[in-house]
Amino acid sequence: MNTKRILLFLFLGIAFHFQTSADEGMWVPSYIQERISDMQSKGFRLTAEELYSINNSSLKDAIVHFNGGCTGEIISDEGLLITNHHCGYGQIQYHSSVEHDYLKDGFWAMTRDEELPNPDLYVAFLEYMEDVTKKVLSGYKNGMSEKEREEIVSKNSSKIVNRIVKKGKGLKARVAPLYYGNQYFLYVYKVFTDVRLVGAPPSSIGKFGGDTDNWMWPRHTGDFSLFRVYAGKDNEPAPYSENNVPYRPKRFFKINAGGIQEGDFTLVYGYPGRTSEYVTSDAVNYIANISNPKKIKLRTLRLNIQDREMEKSDAVRIQYASKNASVANSWKKWQGEMKGIIKMNAVEKKRDFEKAFAAWAKENREYDGIIEKFSDLYSQAEELSLVKDYQNEALNAPEFLRYAAGKGGDSLLFYKDYYKPVDKAIFIALINEYDKDIDDKYKAPYFKRKLSEMGSVEKWADAIYDNDSLALAKEFYRATNSYFRSAVKPRLDSLNREITLLYRKYMRGQMEYDRQRGGTKNFYPDANSTLRIAYGKVQGYSPSDAVYYRPVSTLDGIMEKDNPRIFDYNVPQKLRDIYASKDYGEWEVDGSVPVAFIATNHTTGGNSGSPVLDAEGNLIGVNFDRVWEGTMSDLVFDPDVCRNIALDIRYALFIIDKVADAGYLMDEMVILK
Ligand code: ARG
Ligand code: ASP
Repeated sequence: MNTKRILLFLFLGIAFHFQTSADEGMWVPSYIQERISDMQSKGFRLTAEELYSINNSSLKDAIVHFNGGCTGEIISDEGLLITNHHCGYGQIQYHSSVEHDYLKDGFWAMTRDEELPNPDLYVAFLEYMEDVTKKVLSGYKNGMSEKEREEIVSKNSSKIVNRIVKKGKGLKARVAPLYYGNQYFLYVYKVFTDVRLVGAPPSSIGKFGGDTDNWMWPRHTGDFSLFRVYAGKDNEPAPYSENNVPYRPKRFFKINAGGIQEGDFTLVYGYPGRTSEYVTSDAVNYIANISNPKKIKLRTLRLNIQDREMEKSDAVRIQYASKNASVANSWKKWQGEMKGIIKMNAVEKKRDFEKAFAAWAKENREYDGIIEKFSDLYSQAEELSLVKDYQNEALNAPEFLRYAAGKGGDSLLFYKDYYKPVDKAIFIALINEYDKDIDDKYKAPYFKRKLSEMGSVEKWADAIYDNDSLALAKEFYRATNSYFRSAVKPRLDSLNREITLLYRKYMRGQMEYDRQRGGTKNFYPDANSTLRIAYGKVQGYSPSDAVYYRPVSTLDGIMEKDNPRIFDYNVPQKLRDIYASKDYGEWEVDGSVPVAFIATNHTTGGNSGSPVLDAEGNLIGVNFDRVWEGTMSDLVFDPDVCRNIALDIRYALFIIDKVADAGYLMDEMVILK
């Protein structure tokens, strides 16, 4: 290579780093006007106003934050809602017993009377959002400490929130920071609590592939469930009552059953939970090389114990189904995330960027020294962060301890899903691990004293579990947590405050640095469980050398995986019969039935259940996951391999129609062909 080529090569490498690739980004709906021409150039055919409007009904009115952790969307003018099976899992499980095993067999309300109410479920419709930075920072003066600033922010925010919630039934408001508090937004929601279960396929469809296929493509999961939002006679939020009526929404999605092709425009509109795209190399290094490996180790122990007992008994399988799935979910994601970070050389790339930034900052005094300060703070915080990880993932993992301390909810509900041998074995495994890995100086004196008194973790477990000793369990939980809260957390919190403060500046610095270089990067705020728009297109990818994954999966793939001896791949007989007779009715496409597809939308946890829309804003899918090779997208986005996974809406309709014989539900939907 001659020098000129080397220079060009280097330059391209750096330029690439700065450019927000086409499909990276989770955009703020009220600012979507800024993106609309880019979106339209990629095929989108609606206006910004049709996506988000304060004065008129817009597509955002058909979307809900589902129980705080997922997204859902309305698909009829009678409040019918679709989300993922894994989002409604807790509710499906709540109504299940060995006699009525809705997890295993599915559930379909054949009349409105059969729809099942859910005590702890709510959905929130966003009424509007607005920039309140000025109001939130009123009273703040330069030079105040971060702690004083936080107090001002929280006082002003409560004032704003309290004023709003008085204005109407079911109103909820929240002020949230964007860009590490460079900006603040107010979000006003209308919250409905009478939300009833309408339908769910059996887990052999809704969770097909289970944790074996979770976070992976090719995928064949029919990951959906149906609910209905109920309101008082005035169409306003009301607590559950027999007299409530189906909610008449301002807007619902029409369904496009006309099919999708590779290259088609897609838009995901939902509630991404949390991303950290602007953090430094030290933060990414901590996740990939320290924290994730430890947390994975702890969860592997926990999962092995649960799996072993769930295999032995159907009752235990039902009791631990939801808990096991949620422990397994992050466990697997962390593994993909580590791999992705390492494969992308993300730590090294961030270091290179930081070097260039630090050199630039020498002439921009406001930003001078930031990078050095970050490494200093992170090196102080590292050990404490790990102690915190072990507090959550080891000490607080046994559920009997949490319950005894009053954190495990209502006793009826707790014991319904509690099996002592599982929890005791988890206690033994995890507390031993904690004792081995964590430096004595971070352990509560109570912990050290009691352990030597008992002689071993095993004997300690006997004392707690064999006697069902709520007192001992509570003592354990209280003592270790209060020590953590008093001896570790304050130092960690104050370091984290300094880190946040620094990020607020670094965020501005990154923007300024980029602007001086011609502004190639489009900044978007990290996800914070508020409504966002991601857009991209249906597209396959290459996970490794010589392999290319096509973007659409079909029923044929389900049958290729079918294996009655493997729990995750045991296809229900009814689906086998339909496959054998090829009785696909109107859902047949090229001799099969489409099941799922992947696209380049930037999504994260919380986006599950989000509507995936076509260029006209019609529903083509329901988002439910990401591909394994792309799970580092919460920290670094690689357009070559980051893909979201969506259920093809036609598969949901096929299941409702042919497997559930609940085709009447389609009468209230608007289905375009
Ligand atoms: N990975 C998806 C998400 O983060 C789906 C998880 C549910 N499925 C499961 N097999 N655990 O939530
Ligand atoms: N499965 C995730 C969810 O439940 C989505 C994701 O992380 O891609 O929100």
